Amino acid sequence: MAKITASVYTSHVPAIGAAIDLGKTTEPYWQPLFKGYEYSKQWMKDNTPDVIFLVYNDHATAFSLDMIPTFAIGTAAEYQPADEGWGPRPVPKVIGHPELAAHIAQSVIQQDFDLTIVNKMDVDHGLTVPLSLMCGEPEAWPCPVIPFAVNVVQYPVPSGRRCFELGKAIRKAVESFDKPLKVQIWGTGGMSHQLQGARAGLINKEWDNAFLDRLIADPDGLASVPHIDYVREAGSEGIELVMWLIARGAMADVAGGAAPTLKHRFFHVPASNTAVGHLILENN
Ligand code: DHB
Ligand code: FE
Repeated sequence: MAKITASVYTSHVPAIGAAIDLGKTTEPYWQPLFKGYEYSKQWMKDNTPDVIFLVYNDHATAFSLDMIPTFAIGTAAEYQPADEGWGPRPVPKVIGHPELAAHIAQSVIQQDFDLTIVNKMDVDHGLTVPLSLMCGEPEAWPCPVIPFAVNVVQYPVPSGRRCFELGKAIRKAVESFDKPLKVQIWGTGGMSHQLQGARAGLINKEWDNAFLDRLIADPDGLASVPHIDYVREAGSEGIELVMWLIARGAMADVAGGAAPTLKHRFFHVPASNTAVGHLILENN
């Protein structure tokens, strides 16, 4: 059977992608940030999974205000990079895993989560920046990726509780797939940031670090935090953090297994307008 081996959590700031693509990673502004991912790139080489289930949000690239799925699973064979703002990044196309994606769609929908099935879409910095941070600049990404897009842009957005419960359903889905695949689940976006309005530029290091503490040790309690707390404490775009609860909900301890091992923790301010947080948790 397939297994979830680990979860990875990371911010997705578009300027990080531009810094990589324009060769600026050793500049004084960016160097401390990329140093925090050196461990992660080696870990990724040593622990390359068969598939990454990548939870991210689209930023009006694949889904405009014309149509806003709350949870969308990519079932395509491949996805082209695209982006608003900076334009498409010069990164490899993303190869999908239609067979596992179709199985997860079947299982999760049967567990009463109404997913949107997406057979064709482009993927933006929400998906490609985490891949670049974890994998560097390869000719091809190291394994297939199942994109899972969550609406955290246009209210109403799903609650932390809903996301955490969805993670549990994704775990059951993966572990009922009849092939011995090693699957990582990634939760991306965040941490505190606000890109608009009177509080643009808001960063809250204390709140972010408390979020990381609780994501590791008390994810069920963290899932009860209401939207208003994210917006008040972590800024309007800090709500992207609910996606981390999907990945955390898919870990073994949530289903009664052993607690995960914290392999890496990193936090850095600033990156563009955003606090950057990063964790790697391994199932035991
Ligand atoms: C920034 C952060 C984001 O999460 C995003 O999607 C776009 C821009 C920023 O900090 O610039
Ligand atoms: Fe974003």
